[in-house]
This record gives sequence, structure tokens and C-alpha cells, in this order.
Amino acid sequence: MSPVTQVAVVTGAASGLGRAIAHRLAREGIRVALWDVDLAGAQRAAAEIGAFATPFAVDITDTAAVRTAWSATKSALGGPSILVNSAGILGPSAGIASYPEDQWHRVIDINLNGTFRCCQAAVPDMVAGGYGRIVNIASIAGKDGNPNVAAYVASKAAVIALTKSMGKELATSGVLVNAITPSASETAIFGELTDERRAKLLANVPMARMVRPEEVADLAFWLASPACSFSTGAVFDISGGRATY
Ligand SMILES: NC(=O)c1ccc[n+]([C@@H]2O[C@H](COP(=O)([O-])OP(=O)(O)OC[C@H]3O[C@@H](n4cnc5c(N)ncnc54)[C@H](O)[C@@H]3O)[C@@H](O)[C@H]2O)c1
Repeated sequence: MSPVTQVAVVTGAASGLGRAIAHRLAREGIRVALWDVDLAGAQRAAAEIGAFATPFAVDITDTAAVRTAWSATKSALGGPSILVNSAGILGPSAGIASYPEDQWHRVIDINLNGTFRCCQAAVPDMVAGGYGRIVNIASIAGKDGNPNVAAYVASKAAVIALTKSMGKELATSGVLVNAITPSASETAIFGELTDERRAKLLANVPMARMVRPEEVADLAFWLASPACSFSTGAVFDISGGRATY
């Protein structure tokens, strides 16, 4: 498959890891649809990236909007063979006893159900074409746990499980599905980071620094490429040595 003919959808592409991944894919000559609920942000990111980037307003909690965006992306750019699910939120920080139930549902609906909705829109076309690469941005928190963000951790553990299930289900279809589990990266997801919070985030990271979005983007690019040919349903660590399994 020639890279110039490839089309990618990147969710959450207005900011942070998704934006860096969109940049990386476009640099390789892949046409990228930047899906985000923040249309102005997606437009700004697309303007930075240039001709290979097209912004779309998509709320991944809305099944009809996801389906419509998939069709609109196909019409505008051609059928996507790459889907990177990066849209996500952290949600509130609260102990389990006081964790607000509506926020629990919101975090799960974006991080887990949103990933499911985008995969469900993408898989039939990818399977019909006999080729696809799906990259789900999970988190090291989904393997290790983090205190006071139970919905986030549960959603990311579930994204890992979804990836494993889809990888096995689609293993002979040409569609490979893998997950990435980054440790902390200094993006908008944390809001303003105090020195104390930054120190807490780094306490478990042996390399003692945040992962740069560009480092995650390099790994995502490889997983989105034909060079990734014998890995599926797998979880790729990028946690500066934090992961123990
Ligand atoms: N930054 C980190 O430390 C870190 C670590 C591990 C995993 N992750 C994961 O990486 C992914 C990207 O996070 P980030 O750090 O780039 O955060 P970010 O806040 O910079 O970007 C997230 C993007 O998702 C978009 N988004 C949120 N809700 C949406 C919805 N309903 N529909 C469409 N778009 C929506 C936001 O508008 C934003 O542009 C998330 O899934 C996050 O859980 C981040």
C-alpha cells in the first residue's frame, strides 16, 4: 500500500497526544482527518499541519455524529485505513466514596464507549478493504492503577481489554488493533500542573520525566504502518520504565 494513498482518522486531534500523532502521520504523507469536539482547536491544529490535515467537529459520545463523520471523511478524503483513538478526559479527582456518579458515566462514555463507537464505525470498511490499523491510546494507569481517578483508570483498563478482544477477533482480517500505555505527558488533560502534582506524577517513573507527545507519536506511527505486521491485541508500553508487565 502506497503511503500517499492512505487516510487516517485521529480523534482528540485538537490537542496533546492526538495533535502530535496527526502531525507525525501527515509528515509521512498520510491524509489526516482531525476529529475533535473542539472544532476551533482542530482547525488550529490543521492549519499548523497544512494540506494533509482536515478538521471535523465530532463528539465521540454521539453515535450518529461518529457515523456521519466517518462517511464525511470517506467522501472528503477517501476511505480511512488508520484509526487512532486519542480523545479522552481525566475526569475529577475524588476518592471512591465521593466520586460523582454522573462524572463516572461521562469519563466512561468518552474514554471507553467513544473508542468503541469509533472502532465500530471503522471496522466494516477496513475489513472489507482487507487492511487496517487501529491504535488505541490507553494509559499506564489502566495497568497499574492511580488513586482518586477510578473512572479514568477503569476506562483505560477497559480500553486495553477492548483492544485485546478486537485484536483476536480481527486477527486474520488484515486489520490489526493495538494499544499504547503512556505514563504522564504534560498536555491539557491535567489543566494547570502544580510542582507538587508534577512531582507526584513522576514519582513512579524511573526515567524521572514526562513522556513527550512526539515520542508517543513515533510509536503510534509505527503501529499505524504496514511495518507493524505481526502484532495485534497487544499493549505497547511507553512509560519511562514504570511498567512492570
Ligand atoms: N497526557 C497524559 O499524561 C496521558 C497519559 C496516558 C494516556 N493519555 C491519554 O491520551 C489521550 C489524549 O490525551 P491528551 O493528554 O492529549 O489530552 P488533551 O486534553 O490534550 O487532548 C484530548 C482531546 O480530546 C478531545 N475530546 C474530549 N472529549 C471529546 C469528545 N467527546 N469527542 C471528541 N473529542 C473529545 C479534547 O477536545 C482534546 O482535544 C487520552 O485518551 C488520554 O487518556 C494521556
